[in-house]
Amino acid sequence: MVKVAVMGYGTIGSGVVEILEKNRARIKQTSGKDLVVKYVLDLREFEGDPIQSKIVHDYQTIADDPEIRVVVETMGGVEPAYTFVKAMLEAGKHVTTSNKALVADKGAELIALAREKNVNFLFEASVGGGIPIIRPLISSLTGDEIVEISGIVNGTTNYMLTKMTQEELPFDDVLKEAQAKGYAEKDPTADVEGYDACRKIAILTSLVCGQQVNYEDIHTEGITKITPVDIMYAKEMGRAIKLLAMSRQTEDGYVAMVAPFLLPIEHPLYNVNDVFNAIFVKGNMLGDAMFYGSGAGKLPTASAVVGDIVDMVKHMHTNIILNWDETPAKLADYKNSETRFFVRTKASKAEITEIFGIVEFVDIEELNDEIGFVTLTMNEREYEEKAARLSSVLQMIRFH
Ligand code: HSE
Repeated sequence: MVKVAVMGYGTIGSGVVEILEKNRARIKQTSGKDLVVKYVLDLREFEGDPIQSKIVHDYQTIADDPEIRVVVETMGGVEPAYTFVKAMLEAGKHVTTSNKALVADKGAELIALAREKNVNFLFEASVGGGIPIIRPLISSLTGDEIVEISGIVNGTTNYMLTKMTQEELPFDDVLKEAQAKGYAEKDPTADVEGYDACRKIAILTSLVCGQQVNYEDIHTEGITKITPVDIMYAKEMGRAIKLLAMSRQTEDGYVAMVAPFLLPIEHPLYNVNDVFNAIFVKGNMLGDAMFYGSGAGKLPTASAVVGDIVDMVKHMHTNIILNWDETPAKLADYKNSETRFFVRTKASKAEITEIFGIVEFVDIEELNDEIGFVTLTMNEREYEEKAARLSSVLQMIRFH
């Protein structure tokens, strides 16, 4: 029997407890052990709930109990999760977390500590919810150099962009609907400004480059400026607007960014809608692979946590080596990245061609006081320099 503690009895933590109970027999079969939750750490009491007898309020109770071999952290945020997780690893316990803020910020340090203590620190649920993406990167694809990893890693914004496209609704209306359905938080900033996706791509980039990526180095744009008019243009061009988190190997290191992109219909991410996530991986030997599924939500995310628990039970006395050390990663400047840029402007065709040279115009009849155009391929720096000379820029969205 293996005794487990869960820190944080919110959506994901309660999902973990539910799965461990519901699938107990199956989990025993696959892990070879009976897994029993002994403690649940939370500030609340949960009076009348069957979990009440397991509730503790002091993380030290868990750290000091030698019976606890596996700890789940589903509290979210960097502190106090960091202090608690560190204490658990120091006490020789295996830890799995769904907390992307913690992993993006302290991943390398906690991996090193787990190694020193010959235990494991795993975090499958921190990116892509229930989609297995971390394990393929640290296990199945270790024979490859990963040259690109990119995708839709935020369910909230994907749901919103899908609704804006399908129902032609403005951002604010769709946000209210997403909040009512529980797909967006009361304070939606982390999702809609791209910060959540930024931390997730920082984690993936750290894993593929083997060093600690500082998420603050990643150029990040959210979806708050996307309007129904942008969607009209996207449809006119046969494209869809998606918030992509991207990381690509270049001669100067990995270049990473988060921003809305215009995807053509033939792109594999074009049809990834609603709260679904999809992550595209290109290996130098593998070629292309795509991972698609439920990127958020109680049971999908808790399922990834339980997968980690089983893996840790199977590796009770072995540290699973993760290629992610504390050396700060130097990211390449995103301004050297090349793409085509879609621009909306009130400037005349003559002014546009004088500044940008050859462009493709996108004219929508109902919009008589503006025009859209798509540039030839150029880098971000060159685009910025030209756009600064244009008398008006209403919007810019990159092509992919
Ligand atoms: N708000 C996040 C999302 C939750 O929508 O992807 C999962 O990280």
